This record gives sequence, C-alpha cells and structure tokens, in this order.
Amino acid sequence: MPTVPPTPRGDTVNPGPPGTPDGAPPDALTVTELTVAYGPVRALRAVSLRVPAGGAVAVLGANGAGKSTLLRAISGVLPFHGGEIRGGRIEADGRDLRGRRADAIVADGIVQVPEGRQIFARMTVAENLRAGALTASRRGVAETYDLVMRLFPVLAERQRQRAGLLSGGEQQMLAIGRALMARPRLLLLDEPSLGLAPIVIDRIADTIRDIRRQDIAILLIEQNAALALDLASHAYVLEVGRVALSGPAAELAATDEVRRRYLGDNGEIDDVRAATRPLARWAG
Ligand SMILES: Nc1ncnc2c1ncn2[C@@H]1O[C@H](COP(=O)(O)OP(=O)(O)OP(=O)(O)O)[C@@H](O)[C@H]1O
Ligand SMILES: [Mg+2]
Repeated sequence: MPTVPPTPRGDTVNPGPPGTPDGAPPDALTVTELTVAYGPVRALRAVSLRVPAGGAVAVLGANGAGKSTLLRAISGVLPFHGGEIRGGRIEADGRDLRGRRADAIVADGIVQVPEGRQIFARMTVAENLRAGALTASRRGVAETYDLVMRLFPVLAERQRQRAGLLSGGEQQMLAIGRALMARPRLLLLDEPSLGLAPIVIDRIADTIRDIRRQDIAILLIEQNAALALDLASHAYVLEVGRVALSGPAAELAATDEVRRRYLGDNGEIDDVRAATRPLARWAG
C-alpha cells in the first residue's frame, strides 16, 4: 500500500477530477460554493464538488457534517426541512437546479434514495416500486420494472408482500429499486449501509456496482469509508459543513488522515466487511 504524506486540514489531496475534455458530456452534477442554513444554523459552507456523467463519487463525513443537507439541496427537498440555500450554484447536465421543485428535479433524472429508506410499509413491494415511476409511460414503466426485478431477484420473489415485512437490507434494496423506477441519470444515495449487517452491505455494494454498469451516475453519501472508497472513483470528506479533503478514492484511502480517522490503522479496504464500524465524530 503506497503512503502519502499527511495532508494539512483544509488542503486537497488533488484539486478534483480531471477537467471535461472538449466534446465530452457535461457533468452529471456540479456544485459550486454551496452554502445552506437551517435558520441560524449554517449546515454547509462554500461546498464544491463534481460528479462526472456516469461516474461514482462518494461524500464521507461524521454525524452532523452536512451530508444529508447536501443531498436535500440537490434534490430540492430542503424547504420541507426548514432549510434554505444561501449561496452558490447547483447544476446538472448544464442546467441550474436552484429554486426548482423537487418533482421537476426527479423528472430531470436526479433521484434521491433518502436516509432511512422511507419505503411505504403498508404497501406491497410492487406498489412501492410503481410509486417511484410517476411520470413514465406505461411501456417505460414495464421495462424499468423488469430491469429492477433483474437487479434485485429478492424483490422479484416478494412482489406481493407488504414492504414492512421485508428485512432492513431488503427494504434498502426496495428503496433503491423505487428510485431506479424514475429512470435516473444521477442517483443520490444517503447512507445505504446504515444499520445493515456486513454480509448485507456486501450485497448492497454489488447492487451499486450493477447500477453503475447501467450508465447511471452515483453520488454516494456514507459513514462507511471502506465501502465508499471501494465503490467510488473520487471522494470528498465533509467536516462540519466544509470540504476538508478531496481526491481520487484510492489516493484518499492512502492518506494518513483518512486511514487514521476512517479506516482504522491498517487502512484495509480490500474487504468492505473489514471496516464497517461507523465513523467517529471528527474532533474538529
Ligand atoms: N431540519 C433541520 N433543522 C435544523 N437543523 C438541522 C436540520 N437538519 C439538519 N440540521 C443540522 O445541520 C447540520 C448537518 O446535518 P445533516 O443531517 O446534513 O448531517 P449528516 O452529515 O447527514 O449527519 P448524519 O450522519 O447524522 O446523517 C447538523 O448540525 C444538524 O443538526
Ligand atoms: Mg444524514
């Protein structure tokens, strides 16, 4: 494992993903100097990040770092949480997302899998999935439903079961499947491994790899750094609302700071099960 000298807090390991060459598709997402507050509480301060088209980018951070706030700002649900964008820009495919309604953002192909799944427990698996496909044509819905059944055989077996009866891992798969029903170009995942057993986390990781193969870009929010750095090509570390570190996932995984704070002493990331304990809160 290569070693990289310790990086002072606030520095970047690398300035960011390489620039888009001429003729390449625009980024799936570009966040520039984003500042968000809940009343007097400043939750994000001048956060900038990029997700290339079809790429997978991770955001790591301890409890309260602002990870969910970032996703809420992108998906347009911030007002429902009493939050407000105070500055900066959010662009997807070259279009400005700020001030747009959450349903219009979904229709544009940016779909969030919220923290804690939030499936409809009394509805069946099939009903939950169809609820994710509000805007598509009937034929499109059938095709996407078939794709979700192929990606999640466990859901295919349980289509008529009430969603509330599924295990935690199955509910997470249902939440991801429901988001896929909206045919996203960019999938926003908020801590998909939270509360799941290591073996189940492995299955979720396999699923996320399968989704990447569908040319869907992914912004993955995680406290499980081993999982996130394994799945993503590029990562950002949020510390109390600011980007403290960013760079290629492999380089970040090799920095002393990330190894010590997030991966344990040995920095093992070959097996995501080796480091599934949640992050310690940053000392600040
Ligand atoms: N609805 C809200 N009203 C007021 N403050 C909030 C609200 N939601 C979050 N905050 C505050 O904003 C900051 C960032 O919270 P956020 O939920 O984005 O963090 P997080 O990184 O997702 O944390 P966790 O890992 O616990 O999910 C915290 O200080 C939190 O207390
Ligand atoms: Mg959160």
